[in-house]
Amino acid sequence: MDDRLREELRAWLEFYRELGIEDFYRREPGAREPSVSLLPAKPVPAAAAPLPKLSPPPAAPPRPTVTAMPPRPVAPAAPAAAVIQPPVSSLSLFETPAAPRSGPETLAQIRDDLGDCHRCKLAPTRKTIVFGDGNPHAALVFVGEGPGADEDEQGLPFVGRAGKLLTRMIQAIGMKREEVYICNIVKCRPPGNRTPEKDEVEACSPFLYRQIEAIRPRLVCCLGAPAVRTVLGIKEGITKIRGRFYDFASTKALATVHPAYILRNPREEKILREDFEKIREFLQGA
Ligand code: URA
Repeated sequence: MDDRLREELRAWLEFYRELGIEDFYRREPGAREPSVSLLPAKPVPAAAAPLPKLSPPPAAPPRPTVTAMPPRPVAPAAPAAAVIQPPVSSLSLFETPAAPRSGPETLAQIRDDLGDCHRCKLAPTRKTIVFGDGNPHAALVFVGEGPGADEDEQGLPFVGRAGKLLTRMIQAIGMKREEVYICNIVKCRPPGNRTPEKDEVEACSPFLYRQIEAIRPRLVCCLGAPAVRTVLGIKEGITKIRGRFYDFASTKALATVHPAYILRNPREEKILREDFEKIREFLQGA
């Protein structure tokens, strides 16, 4: 092919490319015409086919007003996953509407996954796994330390003396206990109510994080230093950091003292009241 022909051919190819026609193929001389052409009806120059008599392509071919190729079919949108959620009107001020989730994990699924847990050394001495209790769409989640004797007996968090004080505090800010969700960093009672140990927290806290992710509250309230350490990774003394809001994942967290501390130091009750007022303001503010 001489240079002039090559140049003309190149110019034609460029012209067709500008029209959106890119699929050129070489038809062998003498090959039969396909009976059905999938290509646009325009002549497609093929390198070895008898070339049409080429005249120089128009210097600036008029731009077509229609596209040469049919628009690509758009894949039909996948049907939206069915998300069963309570009607918004049934939510109280203290609930967050259930957001559509890509990988919906429910509290029941997390509980199933926990099973008859023996992931740490608390299992042999516990009576009951205390998973958590309350509103699965709560705007407010409380995280305590671990079940005590009453909780171990009943399988519910914060039902002993500290729990009664917590319930009073919740009511003092105009909420009902059933509106919030309450859980702990470990789900089995540590012997003698000791503080949960590192390996126990490591084994159990992934379930806590999943619970919080499933609920997606607006605020997580950490009760006492071990909860603050587990949720926020803050090791400072609780009296220094209490009453402050922190970013936690896509939500906020507030650190306050554990109700059991107030039972031991009743004159400090105002601390807890103050922090609960902040919770009220936060939830009513948005
Ligand atoms: N203290 C906690 O930290 N959690 C409970 O469930 C009860 C008491």
